[in-house]
Amino acid sequence: MIKLGVNIDHVATLRQARKTFEPDPITAASLAVLGGADIITVHLREDRRHIQDRDVRLLRETVCTKLNLEMSTAPEIVDIALKTKPEQITLVPEKRQEITTEGGLDIVTQKKTIMHVVKRFQDAGILVSLFIDAEEDQIEAARDVGAQFIELHTGNYANAKDVTDRNTMIEKLQNGVKIANKLGVRANAGHGLTYQNVGLLVESLDIEELHIGHSIVSRAVFTGIQKAVSEMKELIYRHSLQKPQIIN
Ligand code: PXP
Repeated sequence: MIKLGVNIDHVATLRQARKTFEPDPITAASLAVLGGADIITVHLREDRRHIQDRDVRLLRETVCTKLNLEMSTAPEIVDIALKTKPEQITLVPEKRQEITTEGGLDIVTQKKTIMHVVKRFQDAGILVSLFIDAEEDQIEAARDVGAQFIELHTGNYANAKDVTDRNTMIEKLQNGVKIANKLGVRANAGHGLTYQNVGLLVESLDIEELHIGHSIVSRAVFTGIQKAVSEMKELIYRHSLQKPQIIN
């Protein structure tokens, strides 16, 4: 079954609104794992708007499933990540003014920098995923720089304005997974996914991991995070069963 990565950045966003000690993302991570999270993801942004260095340190000590650190290629963050030794890092583009990650990483124009960063993590035994749009040249570039995974950006699917638009986005993502499979790059997906739109994606894409944050943390405000995560897991499971099975 597709693994669920739960991004808990927005628990820290709420804490940082008052720069206090609660709610603590470390507690959120433990409860998310109890609810069935296969992966815990945090994004240590250069401006530290939500996740703090202390969170990353404590999560490394306490997350026993898989810790995925989202990050830019800024040297300071790369050094922290190498010291932290998460199981996986995901390189994302990062702009100061953005509310959230706005689009995929442009590997094609930054191949040399990204290749250098990827190699440092590979040498340290840390898996590397690159968050990109489902474009052929970007997927080829991900293969060229030596990443094991890509995470396909699902934001445009999530924001589709009608059914036609949504189906076009699904086809684009399916094509992205096909290209990745052909090139020997493992495919994940995420961004903008909700309890309403995750089902079709699960039924349509052969991917390994789904990365979801805002929608789960939003539901958690009302239900608690353990329940919010288990409801998302249940949805993924149910829709996996509806996937057309290929018999060889
Ligand atoms: N994947 C990546 C690479 C992201 O940057 C984010 C947002 O931090 C997510 C997934 C989760 O997106 P959302 O919060 O919209 O579910």
